Amino acid sequence: MNELAGKHIVLGLSGGIACYKAAELCRSLIKAGATVQVVMTEAAGQFITPVTMQALSGRQVFASQWDDRSAAGVDNNMPHINLSREADAIVVAPASADFMAKLLHGRADDLLSLMCLARPVDKVPLILAPAMNREMWAHPATQRNVVQLRADGATVLDVGIGEQACGETGDGRMLEPEELLYELVRFFTPKVLAGQHVLVSAGPTFEAIDPVRGITNLSSGKMGFAIARAAHEAGANVTLVAGPVSLPTPRGVGRINVKTALNMQKTLNVLSQNATVFISAAAVSDWRPAEAALQKIKKDGSGQVPVLHFVENPDILAGVARSPRASNRTLFCVGFAAESEDLLANAQAKRVRKGVPLLVGNIGPDTFGQDENALLLVDEQGTTELPRADKLVLARQLVGEIARRLRPGVPAPAAAAEAAQAPAGS
Ligand code: CTP
Repeated sequence: MNELAGKHIVLGLSGGIACYKAAELCRSLIKAGATVQVVMTEAAGQFITPVTMQALSGRQVFASQWDDRSAAGVDNNMPHINLSREADAIVVAPASADFMAKLLHGRADDLLSLMCLARPVDKVPLILAPAMNREMWAHPATQRNVVQLRADGATVLDVGIGEQACGETGDGRMLEPEELLYELVRFFTPKVLAGQHVLVSAGPTFEAIDPVRGITNLSSGKMGFAIARAAHEAGANVTLVAGPVSLPTPRGVGRINVKTALNMQKTLNVLSQNATVFISAAAVSDWRPAEAALQKIKKDGSGQVPVLHFVENPDILAGVARSPRASNRTLFCVGFAAESEDLLANAQAKRVRKGVPLLVGNIGPDTFGQDENALLLVDEQGTTELPRADKLVLARQLVGEIARRLRPGVPAPAAAAEAAQAPAGS
């Protein structure tokens, strides 16, 4: 998905067992469209060879400040200057406890630390992915260093929790390559939703008939989850209220699982009181059995089928959209419309019926369970088509559209703008 197209990353490795993850990270960065220049410390060379990193990055690896090879096309024997000047970011992964302590003091006795110190602070961001034993991470010296490094302008990422190579369990593992990639994509995403609290509903609801059966629908939740992720990338504080789906929670997003439409309504009614944006992507069941049987309904062999009586579920979105905060636009509500035909007319009518400023129409059978979708945005001004694309691409575009409506004049996020130019279905 070329999220890092055009970005040049200097990937620094300091010494730690997590160097094995740096190999995968390098690959992921390249796959995401970035160019990668690897710089390693001598200690990193104890864990992984420059040969591996050269093969993965497609570039010669630099490890010494005395290396007199041409660096970034310049022959002045100053790799610490030349390699950093063309970088969109220096990412040190793994950043060992020792390396962070060194950076903190402005020490510069190897190429990587020298390059970090010599980088133009306002132009080349420094992102550190710490990796160490849990005791080293918890040590007051390391924690002090993290605070000071952040104050000095570095972005110090979280650490993972779990089993460590040393056999102990706790905080201090380096984030996984896909988590690091996510953090980098987020780092470069314009924060068009900074300060917003976005509430997203996603997935189907499940309405019980008896303890083992129920009615639900084909919604996979993928669109809502992608929207939650895109909103978080764009700087929002995001809470996702999810019906029964088994999708992983997007990084950094708070999640509350619900089952029935009534559960979902109760949860959303409470949470919407503190949200500034509500995106109702859930495919809420329109009806529920009037009464769920307490025990499994048995067939008795007579051929007689059970008769089910249904009652209508409340319209959650319409209810939230009528609340005082939505009426005075403190809460901006976005509805979805899952249609099977006549998308434009149905979406326009549904927007008015639900009382929302923005409604996103899609053809349910063309998208339920799939990774792609096509959206039709309907608001008071007219319509905007977002052609068929991956749901994450569309989610980023939708976030850009919402941001513009919240604060007219806000440009679309770069990723969304690029995606908008991609051919449909790409
Ligand atoms: N919605 C809701 N509560 C419901 C039904 C729908 O909050 N009981 C929300 C959905 O999350 C979506 C929008 O309303 O944002 C439209 O949902 P959709 O299923 O397309 O339409 P319905 O309201 O069910 O209307 P219809 O069945 O006539 O298409």
